[in-house]
Amino acid sequence: MMLTGKARLAGVLGWPVAHSLSPRLHGFWLHRHGIDGAYLPLPVRSEDFLEVVRALPKAGFRGANVTVPHKEAAFALCRDHGRLSDRARRVGSVNTLVFAEDGVIEGDTTDGFGFVANLRQEAPDDRWTRGRAVVLGAGGAARSVVAGLLELPGITELVLANRTLRRAEEVAADLADARIRVCALDGTAAFADHCALVVNTTSVGLKGEQSLPMPLDALDPAALVTDIVYHPLVTPFLAAAQARGNPIVDGLGMLLHQARPGFQAWFGVDPEVDADLRAHVLAGAV
Ligand code: ATR
Repeated sequence: MMLTGKARLAGVLGWPVAHSLSPRLHGFWLHRHGIDGAYLPLPVRSEDFLEVVRALPKAGFRGANVTVPHKEAAFALCRDHGRLSDRARRVGSVNTLVFAEDGVIEGDTTDGFGFVANLRQEAPDDRWTRGRAVVLGAGGAARSVVAGLLELPGITELVLANRTLRRAEEVAADLADARIRVCALDGTAAFADHCALVVNTTSVGLKGEQSLPMPLDALDPAALVTDIVYHPLVTPFLAAAQARGNPIVDGLGMLLHQARPGFQAWFGVDPEVDADLRAHVLAGAV
């Protein structure tokens, strides 16, 4: 698509931003839908973040994604001087900015949406939406995943397990939902039975160690197992779950689906996540 003077503009703010797959992802959708628009990498240092965000709408941008290290700054900006979506307020971070017509900067967080949308697409048998879910890890990604899962009324218990128990307790206190139960990462075996879903958000096993973030011996054989890491696509944890017959879903789809709300807000189309998009984005992952 050739750009005209009316092209719609968006991008991703990060530092560094060269590794971001978002331009590749949004570029694919812009091309597929023949949209007169562009999505640019915007390398911005922390000290310049506020100045740049305030200038972007003045330069015609409709919005932007926000990645490391700006998610907290974006949250504070929208909280103090703009608008926050309910889920951004709950999770405490922002990854999507929309510059509204009235001049207000709106902040949303879409990782939890992307996580759930990916599972819905990849595991249409919705057994994983009912009963107990176990989430391993209590970092920023876990926060989004937990918030996304708590929107499903069928999840009756959410076990949040972390090496540092205090961090899990903080997430539970912030999200304030009676279904959350915290435990130490080495205490998850007690919850493996009667479990519908296990989500790994930790980096255990990715640096060549042999350990898994959770022992799988007692895991319900029908439990859906997923990992938010997508490099490698099949993590050691997913491989171990698959080897014992559990259904698995890899983490790439979460990245793809979390981009949809932004694309829709800036370019006016709710784009589809399919095999062609997966292959295109994967080819850019290093
Ligand atoms: P992110 O925002 O991507 O989730 P993070 O905030 O660094 O990243 O969180 C990483 C998660 O992996 C945390 O839950 C961390 O546990 P701690 O809170 O105890 O640090 C977990 N993690 C990382 N390496 C780990 C290891 N070797 N063993 C157990 N947990 C680990």
